[in-house]
Amino acid sequence: MSWRATVLTLFPEMFPGPLGHSLAGKALRDGRWELEPLDIRRFATDRHRTVDDTPFGGGAGMVMRPDVVDAACAAALVRGAERPLVCLTPRGRLLDQALVRDFAAAPGLILLCGRYEGVDQRVVEARDMLEVSIGDYVLSGGEPAALVLLDACVRLLPGVMGAAASAEEESHGASGLLEYPHYTRPAEWQGRAVPQVLLSGHHAEVARWRREESERITRERRPDLWARHERNAAAVAGIAGNPAAA
Ligand code: 6GU
Repeated sequence: MSWRATVLTLFPEMFPGPLGHSLAGKALRDGRWELEPLDIRRFATDRHRTVDDTPFGGGAGMVMRPDVVDAACAAALVRGAERPLVCLTPRGRLLDQALVRDFAAAPGLILLCGRYEGVDQRVVEARDMLEVSIGDYVLSGGEPAALVLLDACVRLLPGVMGAAASAEEESHGASGLLEYPHYTRPAEWQGRAVPQVLLSGHHAEVARWRREESERITRERRPDLWARHERNAAAVAGIAGNPAAA
């Protein structure tokens, strides 16, 4: 039983899109995960295949109808083990690596891609959807967000990433820090040298330089992550120094 993603969308031709290439595409062809786009329009009931309507209260744009979205959810839910139902919306909870890890550990996901101004809130509540956003900016629809979310999940599935260690060392990995910078040949390029310590062969010094770079970059770019890292480090020290606190 492979990890299965069902994507409810008005644009099923957008899938697999970029997920048909590279690491995710290879894993898809190897059967490590399955992707099932479901065209929401199939669940429209009127002659014109209507999926949206004007918002109560007025205003611009259109809202996806609850009855049509509900029928699409019902069709997605019939097959296989129970999977979280996620509604992609800029109003959602911000996606982070912890949530990605939870999703990758589930049997799969059902993703609802909102279009227009959104989805009628009653079906979001009735189906107990988890509303998720991929960042503080607005996309024209949930499809690119679904592709981003799925890419992040698929690379964590067993056997998908070649080097198992790299998942722990990378940005947003176990340390909660951003990753250090990388260099390859040539050792000098356009007058720019690779940091000398990386050529030294001193593994302990390389490890120390990388940790310090991770910390510096996190402090400079992401004071929010740095504050959390420091809180966690202090808590761990407290537990180590005082077993009663554990
Ligand atoms: Cl999930 N959808 C849309 N339309 N815009 C977004 C988003 C999602 N996440 C960030 N911006």
